[in-house]
Amino acid sequence: MIQIENLTKRFGQHVAVNGISFTVGRGETMGLLGPNGAGKTTMMRMITGYLPPNDGRVVIDGLDMFDQPSEVKKRIGYLPEQPPVYMDLTVREYLEFAARIRALPGNRVKRQIELVVERCGISDKLGRLIGNLSKGYRQRVGLAQALVHNPDILILDEPTVGLDPVQIVEIRELVRELGRERTVILSSHIMQEITTICEKVAIINQGKLVAFDSIANLSSAMSGGQRLTAIVSRPGNVDRARLLSLPHLLSVESRPDGYLDILGERGWDVREPLARELYEMDSGLLELRLVSLTLEEVFLKAITS
Ligand SMILES: Nc1ncnc2c1ncn2[C@@H]1O[C@H](COP(=O)(O)OP(=O)(O)O)[C@@H](O)[C@H]1O
Ligand SMILES: [Mg+2]
Repeated sequence: MIQIENLTKRFGQHVAVNGISFTVGRGETMGLLGPNGAGKTTMMRMITGYLPPNDGRVVIDGLDMFDQPSEVKKRIGYLPEQPPVYMDLTVREYLEFAARIRALPGNRVKRQIELVVERCGISDKLGRLIGNLSKGYRQRVGLAQALVHNPDILILDEPTVGLDPVQIVEIRELVRELGRERTVILSSHIMQEITTICEKVAIINQGKLVAFDSIANLSSAMSGGQRLTAIVSRPGNVDRARLLSLPHLLSVESRPDGYLDILGERGWDVREPLARELYEMDSGLLELRLVSLTLEEVFLKAITS
């Protein structure tokens, strides 16, 4: 578990991270979303112990980063924004170097490297010079170095930035797989990435936390409740007043195209009673679906509100 309390970092007069607190549970995958300069990289450098905060604490599995840095760092794998990948080393040499820095016992190095290159799909690249690999493969090498000491926690700073669309899909898939057994914090400015990989999202803007929740909850909070669209084949049979008498149902509007726009109270799921009622009215219910805000909309609302 990762507990961030009142984390603050100033560079001179500039407050890059301003009193941010949140908790990420074991096994959760959290997306850190924010525009350029929001403070994502600064946050991640503090969470991984590479940058001391001016104020606040980072507590990992109950251990304070400040009190027990080496014990805490053992549990964390970090893919920095610009991975220090040495172009004139082979993949094997680089991973051996990374394993040594992480103080992995010598007798485990070989086996552990075999495991992580297998995991990252670069087993056949061990003898290659890093400088001769494509950017997508270099990013896999970066992920392999983050995994080499088998940490429970992965902190990945914009892992897909600068990759082509095919590489983006591959890395995203790999990150999602890695997230099945680990706690992951991932930063990105790509909304879709966060939506497909993460359970929770923290939105930061100008160093401040402006939203922290599941994507579904954020969307429902910002759209004022549960928004639904119903499509019926016999709109004439829909009795609006009867629908409005259902508990937690706030509004029903029928559109010229026959669709119904429905708003349920925040925190309640009105789909089942609504579907039953529409069925009993013989409205010819064809479809009932949730209308969620896209992450773009959530993001824009969060940073402008
Ligand atoms: N070492 C530094 N010295 C001075 N200012 C910095 C330093 N690192 C980051 N900043 C500033 O802090 C702010 C947040 O930067 P950063 O954490 O890199 O944002 P993000 O990763 O969200 O794009 C920016 O205004 C940046 O210019
Ligand atoms: Mg950054």
